[in-house]
Amino acid sequence: MCGIVGYVGEKNATPILINALKKLEYRGYDSAGIAVLGNDGIIVRKAKGAIKYLVEKITGEVVKDSKNLSKEECEKAEAEYERQIEKTADFVKGNIGIGHTRWATHGEPSDINAHPHTNVSGTIAVVHNGIIENYAKIKNWLQSQGVVFKSQTDTEVVAHLINYYYEQKKDIFYAVLQALKKLEGSYALGVVCKDFPDRVIAARKDCPLIVGVGNGENFIASDVPAILEYTREVHYLEQKEVAVLYADHVDLFNEDGEKIIRKPSHVEWDLSAAKKDGYAHFMLKEIHEQPKALTDTLRPRLVIENNVPVDIKFDEFDFDENWKNAGRIVITACGTASYAGMVGRYAFEKFARIPVVVDAASEFRYRNPILKKDDIFIVISQSGETADTLEALRIAKKCGAKVIAITNTVGSSVSREADRIIYTWAGPEIAVASTKAYTTQLMCLYLLAIKMGEVRGTIAKDDYLRLLKQLEEIPEKAKRIVENQPVIQKFASEQFNKAKIFYIGRLFDSASSMECALKLKEVSYMHSEAFAAGELKHGPIALVDNSTLVVALATEPALYEKIASNILEVKARGAATLVITQDCSGAFKNCADTTIQIPECENDLASIISVIPAQLFAYYCAVQKGLNPDMPRNLAKSVTVE
Ligand code: M6R
Repeated sequence: MCGIVGYVGEKNATPILINALKKLEYRGYDSAGIAVLGNDGIIVRKAKGAIKYLVEKITGEVVKDSKNLSKEECEKAEAEYERQIEKTADFVKGNIGIGHTRWATHGEPSDINAHPHTNVSGTIAVVHNGIIENYAKIKNWLQSQGVVFKSQTDTEVVAHLINYYYEQKKDIFYAVLQALKKLEGSYALGVVCKDFPDRVIAARKDCPLIVGVGNGENFIASDVPAILEYTREVHYLEQKEVAVLYADHVDLFNEDGEKIIRKPSHVEWDLSAAKKDGYAHFMLKEIHEQPKALTDTLRPRLVIENNVPVDIKFDEFDFDENWKNAGRIVITACGTASYAGMVGRYAFEKFARIPVVVDAASEFRYRNPILKKDDIFIVISQSGETADTLEALRIAKKCGAKVIAITNTVGSSVSREADRIIYTWAGPEIAVASTKAYTTQLMCLYLLAIKMGEVRGTIAKDDYLRLLKQLEEIPEKAKRIVENQPVIQKFASEQFNKAKIFYIGRLFDSASSMECALKLKEVSYMHSEAFAAGELKHGPIALVDNSTLVVALATEPALYEKIASNILEVKARGAATLVITQDCSGAFKNCADTTIQIPECENDLASIISVIPAQLFAYYCAVQKGLNPDMPRNLAKSVTVE
């Protein structure tokens, strides 16, 4: 939610900042801006809309839209765009700067509300991610001191507040520290000051911020991909830490200005992970990466003997007495991650015979939750930075729970604050709509549930070994589904104009339906909902008419007949119907209009792959509508504010 970057070094900062912002555009894209410290002071350039409009504003050249271009034309347009970004160096000159891509909270998306914001004289500039909760109070006070505000943002108060303290001692470090003491809420901040043209100051509380340590140059960024091109050595700033970056070194401080000595961490990521690699969009690339992501997540946790999986083990922790004697599993997360939790509920109940509560983190945090001593508390978060999930984690810890986190992001806040971490080795997920992170979250949950069943004696040894073997085959089955892409693409081209899409299913499939419906609404803006199939006739069927597509997930043979009846009921009311199933006996031949076959697998594991056709369907509906699935309107990848 908002991306910030900063640079200090020998090179021209402008193209570096813009390129870094491009890699963070998934965090927000309603406006962008930079502030560069040149010979004549701070130069600020801002523009409403995507980063390309900022480039246009700086260079005065139109950036060609790559929509509806052939692959070749697209590559040409991309190369031209890169040249135009380089050209920005001719217009905005300086070796130090900060940049921002915005997801609006306070004030509409506009040039004026875009960051950076400055003090009245334009000598201090600030970029900010987060929300300053007491901004109105500070703003009133500053206005009473005669400060005139230009924007509607909460961030502008930070620039004026720093200026207020700067006037006391003419010391920018002192001024930032004093201002931070007055701020309530969350922030990741980048600050430059005309009178200190050798440094960028950065600080964080409840929003992610990393410092990239380069060779004769240093960086700040909200996320690793932004700076991976320049360095793999990073400091993950801790809560309330402040960093001062010079070209040749970085100093870290605590909130009281005391120096902290810490070595940077090395980032192992593959650089190509942050590129599209010839795919039209990151979302499509990430859907295709699922077989590998699933293998990478599963393999290190399978104990193999003579080429056969014989056990599950997590290096991160032992399945001790706590697992054996647990009374409940409590899962808390947001959005897609919470839907992974819903599937996880069926898995834990099925394999470990343990009651499970799944809660939206945004509800959990305000409900004065009841946690018991023998609960196992799990949070799930791709980014590891979701504000509600983090708060839920902290509340659970305060209640005495030991928190297990399933996350995709090494070094994230969730990974640092949880007691035990299980990484989904999905690699960086750039598209806003989660795909590979979701299926790898499911893989982790299944591993936990099955192992817990073994530890508690609720799964017989033979069944345990069979499930392990079946799990091992899941990535290959996922691969066969993504290879079936043209069939789903064609289906999307026939259905993308439907007014309503309902996903239905029973048991595991009812949980999976929620994620399928979310994916579609996120990227195609089509009205889609999920219903437990048995609930249809208790109300939702009133919505069904000939503008409706009903998609049934059917992976439980014992319930095929029930699903077939649901299909006939909605067909009788004019709906088009699709069944996604592993059945090959023809159970839906005489009822569904279309059937998409997924490879046969253990019924209870099918959820990991049955979602993939729905991901592809969502993707192709968006493309058919001329939308950019990587950057759906109003959304941001990492929701670091409440
Ligand atoms: O990073 P997290 O997994 O904590 O994010 C949670 C949700 O914000 C996220 O899953 C959101 O629903 C995605 N846009 C789903 O595609």
